[in-house]
Amino acid sequence: MKVGIGNDHAGVELKNALIDHLTDQGVEVVNFGTDTAESCSYTLAGKAVAHAILNKEIDYGVLICGTGVGISLSANKVRGVRAAVCSEPVTAKLTRLHNDAHIVAFGARIVGVEVAKAIVDEFLSVEYEGGRHQARVDAIEDEHDFEGSELVE
Ligand code: RB5
Repeated sequence: MKVGIGNDHAGVELKNALIDHLTDQGVEVVNFGTDTAESCSYTLAGKAVAHAILNKEIDYGVLICGTGVGISLSANKVRGVRAAVCSEPVTAKLTRLHNDAHIVAFGARIVGVEVAKAIVDEFLSVEYEGGRHQARVDAIEDEHDFEGSELVE
């Protein structure tokens, strides 16, 4: 399995701990993030990992900024890529199973290293279930999905 990891300056330390954690398990990790504490924009790493997903250079992505929000929003702007912010492992597992999320994101200022490891482990432990979830995942990707909906006048 090949995992891309991206981060801004807030996530360097946590990123390095996760690279060690994943490589210890035999996972190949590609580093798309900054390695310095110098302030930088999370958008570049978020979009770089998202494009690597689209280009099939990596199987899954892990994104880290201060909160996980800015970097996941950036990745989600790349059409066809789904990034989910998760602050605990149950959501991380369910977003793979139900949303076919390609990327899990979290905040280095929000979760500790052991919780981050558990989030990543759960995210990578399961495959997308498909079935009843597929129409919903398709609808996420369809920006016109709501047109004609009974919920829209
Ligand atoms: C950087 O200070 C911080 O804004 C960024 O890491 C992230 O939390 C944004 O969503």
